[in-house]
Amino acid sequence: MLVASNRGPVSYTVDEHGSLHARRGGGGLVSGLSAIGSDADSVWVCAALGDGDRAAVRRAEGGLLPAGDTGGQRVRMLDIDAAVHADAYNGIANSVLWFVHHMLYQTPLEPVFDAEFRRQWASYEAYNRAFAEGLAQEAAAGAVVLVQDYHLCLVPAMLRELRPDLRIGHFSHTPWAPPEYFALLPDDIREQLLAGMLGADRVAFLTWRWATAFMRCAEDLGAERYLVGRPCGAPPHIEHLREGRRRTHVGVHSLGADGDFLRARSHEPDVAERMAALRAEIGAGRRTIVRVDRTELSKNIVRGLLAYRQLLEDRPEWRERVVHIAFAYPSRQDLAVYRDYTAAVQRVAEEINSAYGTPGWTPVVLHVKDDFARSLAAYRLADVALVNPIRDGMNLVAKEIPLVSEQGCALVLSREAGAYEELGADALAVNPYDVLQTARALHEALSLPDGERAERSKRLAAAATALPPARWFLDQLRALQELQSS
Ligand code: G6P
Repeated sequence: MLVASNRGPVSYTVDEHGSLHARRGGGGLVSGLSAIGSDADSVWVCAALGDGDRAAVRRAEGGLLPAGDTGGQRVRMLDIDAAVHADAYNGIANSVLWFVHHMLYQTPLEPVFDAEFRRQWASYEAYNRAFAEGLAQEAAAGAVVLVQDYHLCLVPAMLRELRPDLRIGHFSHTPWAPPEYFALLPDDIREQLLAGMLGADRVAFLTWRWATAFMRCAEDLGAERYLVGRPCGAPPHIEHLREGRRRTHVGVHSLGADGDFLRARSHEPDVAERMAALRAEIGAGRRTIVRVDRTELSKNIVRGLLAYRQLLEDRPEWRERVVHIAFAYPSRQDLAVYRDYTAAVQRVAEEINSAYGTPGWTPVVLHVKDDFARSLAAYRLADVALVNPIRDGMNLVAKEIPLVSEQGCALVLSREAGAYEELGADALAVNPYDVLQTARALHEALSLPDGERAERSKRLAAAATALPPARWFLDQLRALQELQSS
């Protein structure tokens, strides 16, 4: 069994003495796939993402990274030309595909599909081909290959051509754009993306909402090319009318939090240390509103801060009595738009602190240095969790905070997060653009009676752990293996 993703479970940095340091990769994809474990028959194929990773690849014996760095997983990193990777990852995957699926464009100005875009697209193709070739070399006869996310949309069709004996799955960790928005992309690119993914035997998504959007995009590209089978008896599938009616099945696998791991990890001594430090920053007897994100445009951190400012304005009774703990960890800093967003988050937090802060009270405690133990400490101290993305494939933080919080927390949750389908009933729902509604939801969340908050939190935690990562992973594997045997 092979897994393929752009980011692997580990990344490396080189220190000033030239020594390599390994650390865990970030994001929901890596958390989900950690369930692969150290199975001797599985290999995780990923890309080298920087100088540290490239040095690690050169050092890797037999092409596999040292088990000590990967937590026992067998990991092969592909050393793809740095310029090709930069165009594919920054230029196409994160600046175009991510924007399309999260509907982030400000359309009067963007997107512009010009010659530069076409140049970057050629790199995206080359980068996908490098993965297809790496996987084709690595895979035993009849192996199952699980390809992950929008970076690798073309891999399934490329790999099928090289190795028709393999069973190929593709999983999207993001939302999928509705066809009206997907149609922003040039026609041939839309077709290439869909044809690439439909090279898989099965494509899967985190919710039916995203899976349905994908099927509608296929329908949109013309009935003479694809026929979408609606779920009435037979499982949903897409038929390729021009390829001898080959079928691609469409599935959904929600991803939950890893309850056992998080509960145990959040009681380790380094987390207790961080809790003591955070308590000192918060001050005694105050409520907390906690958010933890990559500093990601789709996470909507700035509007979250504006909602908190509105709360302090409209409900002065909360001044001095609440602290907003916001952890916003740097992400995709090669892209100017992410750097600008990071600066905006810091600026708005500072504005709130200087407008409302007092000598004994800092209204917003913002940390930007990634620290997993400190995130868990904040989870434990949370009275309210704020998760308000513009759009999100799932959002694991919404599932993790209720699970770990000590007193039980209320969840203010965007309707546009995939997690809303499972958690909506016990959350306070918000339209992510509506700052006033979000401010009211924060007030309501802070005002919930202790008993009700604890009850809701218990139900949220139960829903959050219903489909732990190991189950998510094994269900996908089983679904592909069943296709094989049928
Ligand atoms: C999301 C994507 C993942 C990605 C992660 C972190 O969860 O679905 O594919 O790895 O964000 O983003 P990055 O660009 O740092 O890999």
